[in-house]
Amino acid sequence: AERTSERLVELAKRRGYFFQSSGAYGGVGGFYTFGPQGASLKSNVEDAWRDRFALEEGNMEIDAPTIMPEPVFEASGHLDGFDDMLVECPDCGESHRADHVVEDETEYEDAESLPIPEVEEVIAEHELVCPACGAGLAGQAVEAFNLMFATNIGPGDAQPGYLRPETAQGIFVEFPRLKEYARNTLPFGVTQIGRAYRNEISPRRSIIRTREFTQAELEYFIDPETDEPDLEAVEDVEVTLYPADEQNAEDGAEIRTTIGEAVADGTISSPWVGYFLGVAKPWYDAVGVDMDRFRFRQHLAGERAHYAADCWDAESEIDGNWIEMAGFAYRSDYDLSKHAEHSEDRFTVFRQYDEPKTVERATVDPDMSYLGPEFGGDAQAVVDELEALAERDRAAFENETVEIELEGEAHEIPLEKTGFAVEEQTEAGEHIVPHVVEPSFGVDRLVYTVLHHAYREDEVAGEERTYLGLEPEVAPTFVGVFPLQNDDELEELAEEVASTLREAGLAVTYDDSGNIGRRYRRQDEVGTPFCVTVDYETLENEETTVTVRERDSTDQKRLPIDEIADTLTALRAG
Ligand code: GAP
Repeated sequence: AERTSERLVELAKRRGYFFQSSGAYGGVGGFYTFGPQGASLKSNVEDAWRDRFALEEGNMEIDAPTIMPEPVFEASGHLDGFDDMLVECPDCGESHRADHVVEDETEYEDAESLPIPEVEEVIAEHELVCPACGAGLAGQAVEAFNLMFATNIGPGDAQPGYLRPETAQGIFVEFPRLKEYARNTLPFGVTQIGRAYRNEISPRRSIIRTREFTQAELEYFIDPETDEPDLEAVEDVEVTLYPADEQNAEDGAEIRTTIGEAVADGTISSPWVGYFLGVAKPWYDAVGVDMDRFRFRQHLAGERAHYAADCWDAESEIDGNWIEMAGFAYRSDYDLSKHAEHSEDRFTVFRQYDEPKTVERATVDPDMSYLGPEFGGDAQAVVDELEALAERDRAAFENETVEIELEGEAHEIPLEKTGFAVEEQTEAGEHIVPHVVEPSFGVDRLVYTVLHHAYREDEVAGEERTYLGLEPEVAPTFVGVFPLQNDDELEELAEEVASTLREAGLAVTYDDSGNIGRRYRRQDEVGTPFCVTVDYETLENEETTVTVRERDSTDQKRLPIDEIADTLTALRAG
């Protein structure tokens, strides 16, 4: 049987959901245009995400550039570590991701997380073949391929830049300013919805793996010692989890549990990750992901990105394969520490103690110029070394001389000359580098899943029908309005109904072309939940009524024309 994906991709093109870009020039892999319906569905999904993850959670939203200078990615680790394994087919010359080469028509996914020599071994051992032409790949060299698109900022190549591979870096580098807007108080979250770019070796499955895509990301900054999530709000959310242990076990299986239990028994090690999984699941349900084809899968140790301490993916099932729609990563202080190290800015927040603390501080004489000549004249180096030693090892100052090492050479300094003293100080708090919890959503993959899970075929009055059972919240058009036939009076009244509904804030399509059956089919195929038809009964009735048809059941009802806006608005609100 033809797979739903193939039919969906055909429908998507025909009805204006999405299609390959630059078709006039033959198109190029990995770039898609969202047509009128798709752009609207995508923006409805983004709005729903913004409502839940920015507004309801009380987080900020920013909009940063998509091109960033090289030092950002030197610091973030993407320049060195954001690679996929590439293997070239000796026969057809096509390049493939090492984990996309096939074994018995299934991808050998584990290859991605292996070091290069081992990838080569796996390819040889499993006799993996080229997915394009079927030629054997054993003996082919595997190389690391960096996924970032490079560019030059300004004329010449003096200032290299990159198209961001994740929206997250635009948030991290602005942390020193963003923390000011959060009044220097943790926890706080910053969201961003925008484009990300990855020069994927083999883009495929239409909009599931592209080279330019949209992410909706939340970077949530916490004090790991003092901040705790509101787990009570999500503890009863039921989830299907596929933990790493289960994936590794021979008879491992998915487990059904609740967020509360999974955090309590340590299946989900970070309560913060647990919290966001608990927020995400009902949200996915509300936008139309089928909860019977949805799970959270933990990354295996070798699979995690260079910055992640733990990560769970939200996955949806598409034609028998699980695809990753979002990642929920505990990024610890990795990113902020790296940017602090590589830049001049401050990536810390002041942690105020509940009560001021009295602490003992060991100090040394800050002026040791008299020791200068003995140490090649570098008195400051001596001071720095003694200060560092006093901080880490007070016992070193218990003898008559203190030993330090300068440029590999040991020196002994009489204790009384160091000016060593221990003083009591009162401190109100300390500067800490926040940790980051990151729910990172791929919008395109979500749009694809929503369409795929909504795709249905049935029979109406003996005829086959295809429709999209989209949730009203995200459907591009909420209501189609038709005159039954091409008749001036019917058309005029139908146009009036359409503008009343538009004024009520509903997304309306007015259609008077083709017969009424064709118009219903068209709206069914784009997933319009309701259609309103103005017919002769409307004109003849004393109490003026119109026909309202519901998409999934195709049930029709007559409703008074002056109640139609209120009734449909109430249905829209659910
Ligand atoms: N900031 C974290 C991050 O970027 P990721 O798992 O690499 O994490 C997050 O990406 C999400 O972005 C994925 O779950 C996926 O939905 C989406 N995504 C990643 N690469 C993609 C691609 N080539 N095409 C479409 N979506 C992609």
